Parts: sequence; C-alpha cells; structure tokens
Amino acid sequence: MKSKSQHKQKILITSALLYANGPMHFGHLAGAYLPADCYARFQRLQGHDVLYISGSDEYGMAITMSAELAGREPREHVDLFHGINKKLFEKLNISFDHYSRTTWPGHVPVTHAFFTDLFKAGHIVEKVTEQLYSEKDKKFLADRYVIGTCPKCGYDKARGDECGQCGTSYDAIDLISPRSRLTDSPLTRKMTKHWFLELENFKQQLLEWLDTKDWKSNVVKFIKGYIEELHARAITRDMTWGVPIPLANTEGKVLYVWFDAPIGYISATMEWAQLKGTPELWKDYWLDPQTKLVQFIGKDNIPFHGAIFPAMCMGQSQPYKLVDELPANEFYKLEGKQFSKSDGWFIDLDDFLTRYSSDQIRYAIASNAPETSDSEFTWKDFQAKNNSDLVGKFGNLVNRVLVFAAQNCGAVVPEVQDPQEVDQKFLSEIKTLFEELSEAYRTFRLRRACQLLMEIAQKGNVYFNDQKPWLAIKQGDRASVSRTIRYCMECLRLLALGAYPIIPEAAEKIWRMLGMKAEINLQDELKGEQPLGKSEILFQKLEDAAIEAEIAKLRGPVQEEEEATNLITIDQVRQVELRVAKVLAAEKVDGSQKLVKLKLDDGKGERTIVAGIAEYYAPEQIVGLSIVVVANLQPAKLRGIMSEGMLLAAKWGDKLQVVTVPGAPPGALLS
Ligand code: 2FM
Ligand code: ZN
Repeated sequence: MKSKSQHKQKILITSALLYANGPMHFGHLAGAYLPADCYARFQRLQGHDVLYISGSDEYGMAITMSAELAGREPREHVDLFHGINKKLFEKLNISFDHYSRTTWPGHVPVTHAFFTDLFKAGHIVEKVTEQLYSEKDKKFLADRYVIGTCPKCGYDKARGDECGQCGTSYDAIDLISPRSRLTDSPLTRKMTKHWFLELENFKQQLLEWLDTKDWKSNVVKFIKGYIEELHARAITRDMTWGVPIPLANTEGKVLYVWFDAPIGYISATMEWAQLKGTPELWKDYWLDPQTKLVQFIGKDNIPFHGAIFPAMCMGQSQPYKLVDELPANEFYKLEGKQFSKSDGWFIDLDDFLTRYSSDQIRYAIASNAPETSDSEFTWKDFQAKNNSDLVGKFGNLVNRVLVFAAQNCGAVVPEVQDPQEVDQKFLSEIKTLFEELSEAYRTFRLRRACQLLMEIAQKGNVYFNDQKPWLAIKQGDRASVSRTIRYCMECLRLLALGAYPIIPEAAEKIWRMLGMKAEINLQDELKGEQPLGKSEILFQKLEDAAIEAEIAKLRGPVQEEEEATNLITIDQVRQVELRVAKVLAAEKVDGSQKLVKLKLDDGKGERTIVAGIAEYYAPEQIVGLSIVVVANLQPAKLRGIMSEGMLLAAKWGDKLQVVTVPGAPPGALLS
C-alpha cells in the first residue's frame, strides 16, 4: 500500500463551508464532507501530515433570509445552526481537525487584508451601477432574495446568485424577470454604489494555471468556459450583516459573502493554529508551496473555487497556496428530487442516526457517490447495500472467521508453518485488490473503493468456503485449519485498513477483534498466538417492514403539506382575470431562443405580451388563434419589451400547447 520511499507530505484538505442556516442533509454530506473525510482518513493512514479544515459560512443573504423567515436575528440563527451542524458532523465521524465559523473575529483582518491588497493593486474599483430594487420592501435585493429566469438555461426558479439547474453563477441583475423571493413582487433597477472585482485582469493567468491541472474533464471545461466570460463582479452588498468594507463612508454596505467565505479556509486554519498554542503554524500549510491543497466542493461551487478565489489569491500579496486538486461532486438527491427542508423533502439526520449507524449511511453514500453524474439516496438502495454488502459479504466474513477462531483456534491468531500455494495465491490476490483500492482513494473514486472492498470480502468468503475448515476440524487436520483461519485473518486485517476511510467504526472494531492493541495503522501486522478481542456483530439486516415505514414517513407529511398549501379560496380565484384575446401578429424576439412577441386584441384594445413558446410554435401558427390571457397581471419587461399579461398553455413532457377557445370573441371572460 505504501512504498518505503514515499515521503511524508503536507496535505491541506478543505470542505466547502456550510451555510449555518439549517441542518445539513445527505446532499451536503455526499458533495463535500464524506468524500473529503474518506480522503483525509486514507492519507492519515498513509502517514501523511494531514490537516482537514472546514466550518460554517455565516454571512450573506442565505443567512439573513433564512433568519428572517424563522423570526430570528442572524446572530442567533447562525449560533443555533453552527452548533447543530457541528454535532451532526461529530456523529457522522467527519474527522475535521478544525470546524470554524466565519463570524469568529480573526476572520475580519484576513478578509480586510485581501480587500486592501486587491484595492491598492487596482483590482477592486468603485462603480455606480444599476442594481435590483424592491419598491415594496424599500430596499435593494440581491442573491437569494431574488428569483427569476436563468439567463443561460432558462430555468425559471433560478436564484439571484447562481442557477440551481445548470450551476451558472451570475449577478442578480442578469436574471430575466427578477422578482422578490420574499414578496414575489417584481423588481426594478436603481443606481447604487458598489465595489467590483475586476476579474478580467486575471484571465490569462488563470487559463495558464488551469492548463497545469489534471482535473475531471467536465470540471476543467466548466471552469475554462467561466474564465472565458469573466467580467467584473460586485463584491459588496447593501446590507448590514457581513464583514465591513475596509473603506470610509461605506455605511449600510458590507462585503459579499462569496468574497469573505473562501478566505474563511485560511482564517479557519489560523484559528486552528491559535487554539493549538502555535499561532504561526498555519503558515506551514498555506504558505508552503510543497503543501498539497485539496478542496472538496459540490458542483455549484466550481466557479468560486476554480476561478474567482484563485484570482483573488493571485491579485493580493501573500503567497497563498492555490488549489491543487478540486474534486467537485455532482448533486445527490433524495428519491429523485433535490433535498429541501422547506419543501419537507428531507430526512432528519439526527433522527436517522437514532435508528441507523453513521457507518451505514456513509457506506450507502460512498457506494453511490455523485462522482460523475447526479445520484440519489433511496431507502431501497440503502436497504440493499446494507443487506447485501455490509451484512452479506463484509460482516459475514468477519463474523464467520472470528466465531470459528474463537471456537476452534483457542481465540488466538493461529501460527502458520507451511503455507500452501492456494493460501499464497489468495493472499497475493487480495493484496493486489488492496493496492487497487488505495489507488481508488488516492484518485477520489469512492464508488470504486466500495466495489473493491466487497471484492476483497468476497474473495475471503470464497476462500473460506473452498478450504472448508469445518471439515478439516472433523478430519483432525489442525495445520489446514490454522492456515485457512490465519489467511482469512490476514484478509480481515486488509479489510479493516481498506474500510477505515469509509466505515471507520466497523474498521476499528475489526482491528480490536483481531487483538490489535495500537490504533489502526498500516505497519502493525498480525502475530501468531496474539489473543483475539471480543467479537461482535457489525451490521444488522434491515427488514422490509422497517424500510416501508421509512418510505411512508417521507411521503406522508410532504403530501399532506402539498395538499394543504395547494388549496386556495374562491376569492383568490376571482382575483385572476382570464380573458379571451385574438392574436393579431406574432414575431420572434431578437436574440432569444424561447420568446415570441404577440400583438393581441383583448376586446378593449391592443396589448402586447411576450411568451416563451418559440420552441413549440412558429409565429405564423399562432396568428389568428383565440387564446386565454391573464389580463390583470402586473406588466414586466422581458428582453426590453414590456409584456402586458401572460398566456395560458399546458406543458407536459417535451410538449406545449397554448389554450384556445375557438369561436369566443376577444374580451370574453373565463370563469
Ligand atoms: O454554497 C454554499 O453552500 C457555500 N456556503 C459554500 C462556501 S464554500 C467557501 F468558499 F467558503
Ligand atoms: Zn441555468
């Protein structure tokens, strides 16, 4: 597993800082924490100098909005969820060396140093620009307070900072039809002063740097595309919850959370060093070019880690490490849909951990990790992986070997005199698989690691079956029994080491059951006559009834909630004015794939609407139809055209059909 010449390397591992605005869920765990923890555990076993850092991301609109909705002050809100998430990570055995928070006082001077350096170097400039303003709330809104249509993929519930569908990151002002997430009111544009990071200054340097990286091709492609289109981005916001701007006359404005958050990796390491009583120690990691910096993130965080934060580092004066490896994972869903606490589509992890072990969920996620495409947690898969892999292959081998040894080998590791070819072949095969397993960990492939682990366990089961030690006992062939059991134990030792990154609790138990005294490590070998520890069952089978109950629990409250929130009163229905309108003219909107501009006769006169039907109707197909429009919708500008209403259409699969009322006169009311 480890060649003698391999030197001890400093490996700084980070997991994306988690917003302290709710309890984390399996989706977070699968994207940035479990893969990082497995990697950290693997590299520690290899003897490397690993420092694993993460923490809570506590500023920004993700926090203030969630706090506002919960009726808490931001400070109270982040205190609550920082505590909850820290405990959850502990229960899940995520082995951070430090879990910090961006509201710790030491975070401010580092962030200010970044700002001041970039400002002095001319990379941050002040500009007065249009931002989105809510007349209703009497304030500027940005990021998560804004919802609208993604300028890239057309997803109509895109957030103001990034699109949840295609992962594009942009400014809220770029959204089509922006509206307030809180009140659903449309937003207007108004001038305000902000500071912009001139990202285009770093284009060339970023491209050259990226060329040296051997990352997943889709990640590199995405970053390259992002760099090509780099433009100045506002790094300040009109709000009071955040890191202050280190300039005079900036009251009412703070730094944008995505400016301070990645700096949080550095300040968290400084806090770690301070708490250890060696305040300068952080430099050994962040300022040493020999350190390997590995940053685990979900795919929605790629632009910030693969382009913007590296640019920020390039433009300031400290020689901070730039990311060396960027294992970015796809999304991990729950039974086909994104986890969403607000929609009731989630599993309470705290509750989950009262019935299942951390190893069980770690294995379920690792074996189906969203490495190259989105994947999902399903209760059926959780049951199947537990029953067939953890119980049927892995646990079965451990149990049968150790129970047999306790009963027939005096509860010690048997001494072996003359290994046969079959034993040596078995050992060599499992060692080869073990090497492959190490390579899988080294290259961030947890799915493959799980397969290899089970292959090793199955090889052990087959060897045990083929050697039939229970017959050898009857035949009085003690030497054969000792050989088989000793070689099976060698297999268990490799299994414990190989499983440790993913299922550390089970691995440590096997280690103890084999009678090993020191902490799990690669160097300690089994010794003949070494007394075994107390043996125990590692995993229990999950019965169908229990899983069915979990599925019912997941669907139950959500359906009830959906039914409840779907109901509206007759008065609400009457508020919507639906009228028949005749299409007089239609033309495609310049520069848009989806939009068509329609001139209508609504019975009272002419009105113009812009509709997203260009992919389904040619303009001439729609002229002359008697369609249905929402006549009392507040007008909104789409691609510079004022749209006075919306038409009704049915959409299913890849089809769309406009609702028509043939023969009805323009202006006829629908009720
Ligand atoms: O997307 C998120 O959930 C952010 N809280 C990630 C921040 S990562 C880092 F830059 F701090
Ligand atoms: Zn999009």
